[in-house]
Amino acid sequence: MSESAEIILDGKSYQMPIVEGTENEKAIDISSLRGKTGYITLDSGYKNTGATKSAITFLDGELGILRYRGYPIEQLAERSNFVEVAYLLIYGTLPTTEELADFSDKIRRHTLVNEDMRKILDGFPSTSHPMGILSALVSSLTAFYPESLNPNQTTEEMDLSIIRLMAKISTIAAWSYKNSIGHPVNYPKNQLDYCSNFLHMMFAYPTEDYEVNPVVVDALNKLLILHADHEQNCSTSTVRLVGSANASLYSSVSAGISALWGPLHGGANQAVIEMLEQIKADGGDSKKFINKAKDKDDPFRLMGFGHRVYKNFDPRAKIIKKTADDVLNAMGVKDPILNIAKELEEAALNDPYFVERKLYPNVDFYSGIIYRALGIPTDMFTVMFALGRLPGWIAQWKEMRENKEPIGRPRQVYTGETERDYVSIDKR
Ligand code: SDX
Repeated sequence: MSESAEIILDGKSYQMPIVEGTENEKAIDISSLRGKTGYITLDSGYKNTGATKSAITFLDGELGILRYRGYPIEQLAERSNFVEVAYLLIYGTLPTTEELADFSDKIRRHTLVNEDMRKILDGFPSTSHPMGILSALVSSLTAFYPESLNPNQTTEEMDLSIIRLMAKISTIAAWSYKNSIGHPVNYPKNQLDYCSNFLHMMFAYPTEDYEVNPVVVDALNKLLILHADHEQNCSTSTVRLVGSANASLYSSVSAGISALWGPLHGGANQAVIEMLEQIKADGGDSKKFINKAKDKDDPFRLMGFGHRVYKNFDPRAKIIKKTADDVLNAMGVKDPILNIAKELEEAALNDPYFVERKLYPNVDFYSGIIYRALGIPTDMFTVMFALGRLPGWIAQWKEMRENKEPIGRPRQVYTGETERDYVSIDKR
């Protein structure tokens, strides 16, 4: 492998070092480019630009590989659980029995939120989208735990901030749902595991006992694991950028939640269901909507299809598609939109437009069908994505801090007016 890349500018030759990762990914390190040449690079959407080095998640878009700290996603989805995967992402190793018990117990004991948070929640109209509530209430944790604002937290203080966020986000998420339907909130029950506790807070009523369905718990663990991290995606890059300014973990994650809300990113799982419902209401003609998606003059896109990195298949989509079949069968749920989804996938995978552009189902294409079968309302789907992605955001923010990365501040190419003098209003 060559040790450097040669750039020739204005007749002069410059050598830029080559960086190679543990999975043989290669990069040209241009950190000295502007200093040496006065030039910068331009890469709208950062399609060719690495923002950092990271040891957390590896994915290969061509081969459909996704690994957390080296462990294949297929094995983790099959054999692990969400709290263990969260520990793995955040601390870098699979926990021992004692480490996992300690981590799980600490999370359980921090699921309560300050009662004043209910006053903030009550201030939101019941029509509020739960992602807006989630972002606001996560940010409000800085008010209840001002010590989290200290950029020089000790390891113990950082670990406590992490535990509090992992624990309280599920309570905040469930309470935002209860707020939206005008029902009383449920307090967490410490004897329940993470996923069971969340389901209890989401679906229990004070008027009767609530039995957690093990099929639902297993499906939820799998879904949260599959969403837990995905290297430098839009929302994770947001968390790292905000955190690079020494903003707190809670402020950085609150910003990440807002980025994830976008329908081109995590908001796609809600958009997929709305699209499938639209197709069903329109008579179920998948071909008609495939043609709309191909029509440049039609803003309609096939939500849940395409990916910036995966140009073969999204390994998560394969696992989620199978889980959707298993869950619906186990629960005896017949959801007509699952058939529409499968028809749509079949039609798209045989259509040159999608094949040429390497557009395949992504993680969001089938996940909404499972959430729906679990009784989770559509506008909570992206909240579920945020719950899953939280350990990834935490791990990436922690890595950025531990590596003492500089504040993120991209350059630009200015294309506006050149210098001109001010003109008084009577002369304009
Ligand atoms: C997530 O980055 C991550 O890792 C994200 C994520 C994570 O875990 O964090 O994986 C989660 O965000 C998954 C993606 C969810 N979004 C959607 O499902 C929304 C629909 N998909 C797209 O809008 C799109 O595919 C993106 C945003 C996902 C990717 O966009 P890119 O990489 O910028 O590609 P592009 O928009 O330049 O599209 C390339 C071509 C274009 O056509 P041409 O101009 O070349 O003719 O493909 C077309 C696009 O018009 N295209 C689609 C399409 N997606 C891309 N055409 C129809 N339907 C689609 N869904």
